[in-house]
Amino acid sequence: MEGSASEAAVPGIDTSKPHPARMYDYYLGGKNHFAADRETAEKGLAGWPAGRLAARENRAFLGRAVRFLAGEAGIRQFLDIGTGLPTANNVHEVAQEVAPSCRVVYADNDPLVLAHARALLTSSREGRTAYIQADLRDPQSILSHPSVREVLDFSKPVALVLVAVLHFVPDEFKPAEVIATLVDALPSGSHLVASHITGEHDPVGPATGARAYRAAGLPAQLRDSGQFAQLAFSGLDLVPPGTVLVSEWRPEDSAPRPTPAEVSWYGGVARIP
Ligand SMILES: C[S@@+](CC[C@H](N)C(=O)[O-])C[C@H]1O[C@@H](n2cnc3c(N)ncnc32)[C@H](O)[C@@H]1O
Repeated sequence: MEGSASEAAVPGIDTSKPHPARMYDYYLGGKNHFAADRETAEKGLAGWPAGRLAARENRAFLGRAVRFLAGEAGIRQFLDIGTGLPTANNVHEVAQEVAPSCRVVYADNDPLVLAHARALLTSSREGRTAYIQADLRDPQSILSHPSVREVLDFSKPVALVLVAVLHFVPDEFKPAEVIATLVDALPSGSHLVASHITGEHDPVGPATGARAYRAAGLPAQLRDSGQFAQLAFSGLDLVPPGTVLVSEWRPEDSAPRPTPAEVSWYGGVARIP
């Protein structure tokens, strides 16, 4: 699996430096990562052996949250920033399974995601999908992008998906202003779903992971539940159960769940009033 087709040179992609999208793909057992990604990922996993399990819990949370949004909340439009490489249960697949008319715009700043974006664009006939290469830290460039304006109708509710991306936006990049810019562009009844790694339940593991990212030149910052809730959901109406460990957000079965230290990842969904 590793060292397969993904090892071939991909034009425009620097494979000598690690990138979060490819490292996440590695944690999830995907095939789209290079030696530099695996090396940095393994350094993090050496200190946080539960990191892989945590990534899977986060991905499952994303699926449940999107099912909730397309189902109970009746949302038909999604703006998913920090999409990651295509894998199982991409946002449009989950949403369109509930409501085939769902429209989804994906955005990520890793050019490798662009190279694989075709897999994200397999829309139902009734819906639409689009992919843009963009940086969350420049929210205006996302809001004004022609594909975003074409696919999403900003007079109707939109779900803004910031799942597992805010920990890549340390305070110096003013993430609260970034979120405010995006949220202010959405009409009442829109929703925000977000998740975030924390060091609150395991002071060693996630911090080791974050250090491995920073040592490789990738911005990373852990936040506790209060900091995360304040950053993501200030002024919004949190949907029950609020900001909780991703494994505790509306679990769909009663199977035993991993410990808080193993999960170390908060998530929540809120309605924009
Ligand atoms: C851990 S993955 C999460 C993927 C997916 N949202 C999920 O939770 O399953 C984080 C993604 O955020 C992207 N990312 C990191 N910083 C970003 C930024 N400043 N702007 C856009 N995307 C970013 C990475 O390239 C990566 O694909």
